[in-house]
Amino acid sequence: MKVLITGGAGFLGRRLAHKLVARGSLKGTDGRDQAIDEIVLLDVVPAESLADARIRMIVGDIADASLLRRAIDRGVGSVFHLAAIVSGEAEADFDLGMRVNVDACRSLLEACRAAGHQPRVVFTSSVAVYGSDLPATVLDSSALNPQSSYGTQKAIGELLINDYSRKGFIDGRVLRLPTIGVRPGKPNRAASSFASGIVREPLNGEQSTCPIAPETRVWLLSPRKAIEGLILGHELPAQALGSSRIVNLPGVCVTAYEMVAALERVAGAEAAKRVRWERDEVTNRIVASWPGAWDTRRAEALGFSGDADFDSIIRAYIEDELSSAFAGRA
Ligand SMILES: NC(=O)c1ccc[n+]([C@@H]2O[C@H](COP(=O)([O-])OP(=O)(O)OC[C@H]3O[C@@H](n4cnc5c(N)ncnc54)[C@H](O)[C@@H]3O)[C@@H](O)[C@H]2O)c1
Repeated sequence: MKVLITGGAGFLGRRLAHKLVARGSLKGTDGRDQAIDEIVLLDVVPAESLADARIRMIVGDIADASLLRRAIDRGVGSVFHLAAIVSGEAEADFDLGMRVNVDACRSLLEACRAAGHQPRVVFTSSVAVYGSDLPATVLDSSALNPQSSYGTQKAIGELLINDYSRKGFIDGRVLRLPTIGVRPGKPNRAASSFASGIVREPLNGEQSTCPIAPETRVWLLSPRKAIEGLILGHELPAQALGSSRIVNLPGVCVTAYEMVAALERVAGAEAAKRVRWERDEVTNRIVASWPGAWDTRRAEALGFSGDADFDSIIRAYIEDELSSAFAGRA
């Protein structure tokens, strides 16, 4: 079978591709294990280091419906739809966010429908679908009330996945992801980018700025656990999901202050001192509108799990991304 990963050159897309190569199989449209013959990464930018002959890159814009129709044929058993304009950028450029996060999502679902074989589609949603006057722990039954264009666009995507599944056009799954960190490399334009920066930059010996209030709670998951969750979400039988294809994945709830305290425990006081507190009102408003935690009983019953605590998330980043030269203290 063929697997398509949109946004395949991105943070999660690349990691998912490598995990699928190592795994070698996924459940096909018939629910049986099938060997993965090809993994197609579709992205506007090329992916670095395609380490396996089964990985192929298509550089192109998912807002191009004809490209999607060509990329999704009956050989594509699974689509991981990760391409997106992230929160800060979708807020700054409304039209771009709508084009990629809404219009292209619909075109992708239409391409799957036209192929006619009900492929599995995994869609990554976000804490940003919730917002404003939230309970301390958001329940599955809590109303969606996004306070950003990105959150609104993700909520539209969720509903489309549910309805295309209900109609039998696809076999869809929506995984609402906590903020994923620690993300290596450069900061991106997500409002949550600081959550990685306040660990990553100090571990590199650099200063970083925390733009949100120390007491603001953030719901976090490591990339390791996120990729595990994407694959588990793909493999679940449709019956296990019932009438809602949407699952809120487990995370850890930490305040910005607790994140820096964890950094100090794992990497020492010098690293923690490299974080400056400098409030940015736009970022603070967006992040504070997101839930700090949600009820994860449904996800756990389905087999999903989160990280033990934020210290483990930092340690996983050090193990996975930093060289062995890191001696345990930055
Ligand atoms: N990382 C997180 O904290 C987080 C949290 C919740 C949800 N998500 C969602 O998970 C998915 C993956 O996140 P990520 O962190 O890997 O993001 P990312 O920004 O690293 O990757 C997204 C990829 O989409 C590509 N892309 C953007 N516009 C495109 C277009 N028009 N055509 C083709 N490709 C395009 C980008 O080039 C990028 O490589 C996204 O849908 C994101 O909204 C991420």
